[in-house]
Amino acid sequence: MSKIIKNGTIVTAGDIFTGDIYVDEGIIKDIGINLEKDCDEVIDAGGKYVIPGGVDVHTHLNLDAGIAVANDDFYTGTVAAACGGTTTIVDHMGFGPKGCNLHHQVNVYHKYAKNNAVVDYSFHGVIQHVDEFILKEMEQIVKEEGIPSFKIYMTYDYKVSDEEALKVLFKLKELGGITTVHPENNDAVNYLRQKFIKKGLTDPIYHALSRPTECEGEAVNRIINLAAIAEDAPLYIVHVSSSLALDYIKLAHNRGQNVYSETCPQYLLLDEERYKVPNNEGLKYIMSPPLRKKENQASLWKGIKDGHIHTVATDHCPFAFNKDKQMGKDDFTKCPNGAPGIEERIPLMFSEGVMKKKISLNKFVEVCCTNPAKIFGLYPKKGTIQVGSDADIVLIDPNLEVTLTKNMLHENVDYTAYEGFKLKGYPILTMLRGEIIAKNNKFVGKKGYGNFIKRKINKIVI
Ligand code: URP
Ligand code: ZN
Ligand code: ZN
Repeated sequence: MSKIIKNGTIVTAGDIFTGDIYVDEGIIKDIGINLEKDCDEVIDAGGKYVIPGGVDVHTHLNLDAGIAVANDDFYTGTVAAACGGTTTIVDHMGFGPKGCNLHHQVNVYHKYAKNNAVVDYSFHGVIQHVDEFILKEMEQIVKEEGIPSFKIYMTYDYKVSDEEALKVLFKLKELGGITTVHPENNDAVNYLRQKFIKKGLTDPIYHALSRPTECEGEAVNRIINLAAIAEDAPLYIVHVSSSLALDYIKLAHNRGQNVYSETCPQYLLLDEERYKVPNNEGLKYIMSPPLRKKENQASLWKGIKDGHIHTVATDHCPFAFNKDKQMGKDDFTKCPNGAPGIEERIPLMFSEGVMKKKISLNKFVEVCCTNPAKIFGLYPKKGTIQVGSDADIVLIDPNLEVTLTKNMLHENVDYTAYEGFKLKGYPILTMLRGEIIAKNNKFVGKKGYGNFIKRKINKIVI
């Protein structure tokens, strides 16, 4: 079905102008002023912002965390994404059985997503151990499976050693891929956790105190230097939460290193005080890295503005507060880590970022849509509005006032970390490859419409 979106304020990372977009066969076919086209549907976008579909490159759908499974699968999670203005996700595959090869999780995740996802999707590979077979297999995953990004963890059960990290960095540089990393100093975290538990200090706030900013900063600094040793291998640092970690990233940028970084709305908008809310409500915010002291937020917003933080993703990893999260009620270390956010990202970044004048409209599009697509090999198919790109388009009504509550959201979990946030502006229409999949906060698409996107990273220019 061909469509024309008329008279909207079209926003890309580099432009703002009033015009029309003509869409046919799932592709943007023409952009201009007063376009005259025969088409099946006319969408009046007067007074609305027209942005590229959001690209969320950090989600955990179907994640099996061992003690609990994340509540959103590829259907419910992507319905929520669609209603919140996101049209493409790149999901971080969870760990498979100990010793499994790389294809194991790729196959598992294709089964999770196929016939379920309602937005387009890809996966980041996950490294659990490194040997000559894994390094060889990485080549197949990048070249044949179209998955050129892998994640290494510096903490948790399958953390890699520095030597393993170096091998992965070297290999992905050779293959034209990118290493993504969860950086936290594992020994320091474990030492502090045990110290608190031995003293009976089990409340949620001790989750934050056992993962101080120095744990993140040290690991960020270490992995950046390992990437430099690996002949400036491309590196993407996920969920940057603190100004200390950002300082090391800035140093890397000043040294000309190929380092990219991501933050998430929770680190921009929520702070450590949340862990102290009575009735164990602090469990809702147990995630790693933890929420930080409020003063970090200004540095992160500035990092976005200055271009040291390139993307805003969600780390969407929802566990039910009334069930899963209660495992941590007498001991924070027993609480599954993660929080929901896939649906709130675009609304929050628009309202809290653009409307409160922390970032420009162009920057909003750059960090939520364009840069994630560029860094992970989805651009210009995804992440922008230009002739030839997929017709992934979102309309935002800047005058719509919405109070975020659990009940209005579609995430399959019993809370939102942003309950009561008063937003100015909200997505009112989401189109994926020319089909409207969400309208006025209702999902109107089809189960399984989402396609797996084979990715290839060309030279990253952002
Ligand atoms: O606490 C978090 N962030 N859970 C999801 C897994 C991860 O570390 O990204
Ligand atoms: Zn992580
Ligand atoms: Zn994550």
